[in-house]
Amino acid sequence: MKKTLLLAVAVLLVAMPSEARKKPKFTHETVAVPAVEREIISVETASTSLNLLVTEKGELQTLHYGAKIEDPGAWLQLDGSSEDYNGCRSLTYPATGGRFISEPALHVKYPDGSHNTELYFTGVKKSAQDGFERTEIGLKDYVTGLEVKLLYDAYVKEDVIEMHSEILNGGKKAVELLNYASASLYVDAPEYLLTHFYGAWAKEMLMESEVLGHDTKVIESRRGVQATQGNNPSFLLSLGTKELRENDGEVIAGALEWSGNFRMSFEKDDAHRLNIITGISPYASAYPLEAGATFVTPGMVYTYSAEGAGGASRNLHRWARKYCVYGGGAVNPTLLNSWEGAYFNFTTPVLLGMIDDAASMGLEMFVLDDGWFGNDFPRNGDNAGLGDWEVNTSKLPEGIEYLASYAHSKGLKFGIWIEPEMVNPASNLAHEHPEWVVQSPGREIYQGRNQWVLDLSNPAVEDFVFGIFDRTMQLAPGIDYIKWDCNRVIQSFGSPYLGTQQDRFYVEYVEGLYNVMRRIREKYPRVIVQCCSSGGGRVDYGALRYCNEVWTSDNTDARTRAFIQYSMNLIYPACVMASHVSTVPNHQTSNVTPLKFRFDMACSGRLGMELQPKYFSPEDRALADRCITSYKKYRDLVFAGDAYRLASPYDGSYYGVMYVSEDKSRAVVFTYCLEFEPRTVGSKAFRLIGLDPSRSYKVMEQNVDRSCWWGSGKVFSGSFLAEGGFNPVLPQIYSSAVFVLEAQ
Ligand code: GLA
Repeated sequence: MKKTLLLAVAVLLVAMPSEARKKPKFTHETVAVPAVEREIISVETASTSLNLLVTEKGELQTLHYGAKIEDPGAWLQLDGSSEDYNGCRSLTYPATGGRFISEPALHVKYPDGSHNTELYFTGVKKSAQDGFERTEIGLKDYVTGLEVKLLYDAYVKEDVIEMHSEILNGGKKAVELLNYASASLYVDAPEYLLTHFYGAWAKEMLMESEVLGHDTKVIESRRGVQATQGNNPSFLLSLGTKELRENDGEVIAGALEWSGNFRMSFEKDDAHRLNIITGISPYASAYPLEAGATFVTPGMVYTYSAEGAGGASRNLHRWARKYCVYGGGAVNPTLLNSWEGAYFNFTTPVLLGMIDDAASMGLEMFVLDDGWFGNDFPRNGDNAGLGDWEVNTSKLPEGIEYLASYAHSKGLKFGIWIEPEMVNPASNLAHEHPEWVVQSPGREIYQGRNQWVLDLSNPAVEDFVFGIFDRTMQLAPGIDYIKWDCNRVIQSFGSPYLGTQQDRFYVEYVEGLYNVMRRIREKYPRVIVQCCSSGGGRVDYGALRYCNEVWTSDNTDARTRAFIQYSMNLIYPACVMASHVSTVPNHQTSNVTPLKFRFDMACSGRLGMELQPKYFSPEDRALADRCITSYKKYRDLVFAGDAYRLASPYDGSYYGVMYVSEDKSRAVVFTYCLEFEPRTVGSKAFRLIGLDPSRSYKVMEQNVDRSCWWGSGKVFSGSFLAEGGFNPVLPQIYSSAVFVLEAQ
């Protein structure tokens, strides 16, 4: 049968004209990629390592991120075939094109319409920088000339690696960046539990955990500004478990330093490896990169700990306090903010009364919130005045200087609120500079909270926004604190300034904001800046490089705050977490909680008050004085101590957190009951893990005449306090107790 077939084909070929028998010549020239030596590149901290492999072909692959491997050179024995199998799927910075077909870190569209990029290793450089070790890896696409630099900054002591990429268009024409991630990280574990943070106004940063299945999970913000009121650009990844564990187990924590649209994707492939790609969201932002230009992506910080979520967050906090948060770790003053106590309805005498009360309670600053500006369009509500930053002469005829010097004369610092990125249609600014408003031709300019957004991608607007800050600082000598607000998202986005280059808008808005912040910090290095965006709408390590603290949430209900503050602490250190005691029923939730509970909650962050103190009863006033006095004695621990979360409000009735000094000689412990418990706290509810087990500590409950724990005033070993001997009685909803511990 076979023979017959062959014969038939042969006969047919002989019968065909010779030209038709010629094989078509397939020509395809390949640009040569220089061969390189196989090598292992390691980025190491005290107890972690990121190990990368350069193959002979010049591909850069991720081998390991986790506990430190002492002999990473062993990987050079990996045979080529397993490399090839792993090959394109664990590329360290995968680009669209070539063999790679998964979620890319980089996607470039070239002038000829092509979408292929294949990055090959060109070299590695190590250098010691101020406080960290930098590893710089060069990659190149030899067809287009596009180059990528991967930068890894290892903060050795903190076990943090900060990554970012720089993309250089080495070609002759502009290209479009369709994806331009800061970093890509492959990890390998039998199971991945992703814990991330979602929210909305008055309920920011709520924690959610999910076991990752195959395919891609994405966390993204497309809000433009107020980017973190929904999702936060941060996460915890628990490896090999379905449970978020506080004190043990492998956890990777990550956070992006960017205050605009972001995207974090988690793609689990068919070999169960997870590729995490993080960076600016490319949503509506196909970024044009001119020939010779470089795009620098924002930093992505990573840490790994084998001591659970607790270990991972302590690493991040230490790094943040030392290297990221502006003024991180220094104590910021306690304060009275005028907002919930007066809203827009104040005059000079009302504010003077609040200043008097703040001073006599022992608070250290008065902050005048919204409502102090606008004359033609007075700011008597949220519908007018934004943009017109002159003092409202009918409310405050004596001016800001008078208020500030009165506060200073009482020994208080003085702070003031601005919202410089925004404009009300009812303002002189909107009439004078309609071209500064974010808008799209022919479309309605939607309002949010009766306001529009100013176009910070325009350098003229940058100057204007800087000028608002600058002039506000000149309103009185010694303005000590600025609350910078930003109360809406961007919609119908568009910049009259950018013309046909609207793809640049979202990125350049944030760059514009950072330019302004940089100028502010050059001129005003000492002013304390609070980053607020309708509460926690701008909570990220990008903004925190310029700001000392954040307004955690407009929700001041101490019960809701337990949930927000617990999850906030998983990523961000307590020194940035402003927390205020407000009145009851709470203005957001109507919840009624005892004043002690409200103080105990606020004292676990930067304590402030936001109410009209003149309505306090003498008993409440006495309690307030007592809580403020004791807070000042232990607050250095809140600002600079190591956080140990003792109980999660997401797990049941109790919430607890402890801050321990670096030398473990002092600690402060906060404990709260969030649900009625008919019996007393089980003795394992709050185990004081984090003390030195072999040292003895005197435990002293604060702000009570009779302690809720039998051991208050006595001395115990750290081991006893960790292993179950510490069981304060918190029998009712909203019982709470604060303890100071001192090593003997
Ligand atoms: C936002 C802030 C509040 C307050 C108001 C003022 O909502 O989050 O704290 O400053 O604006 O309008």
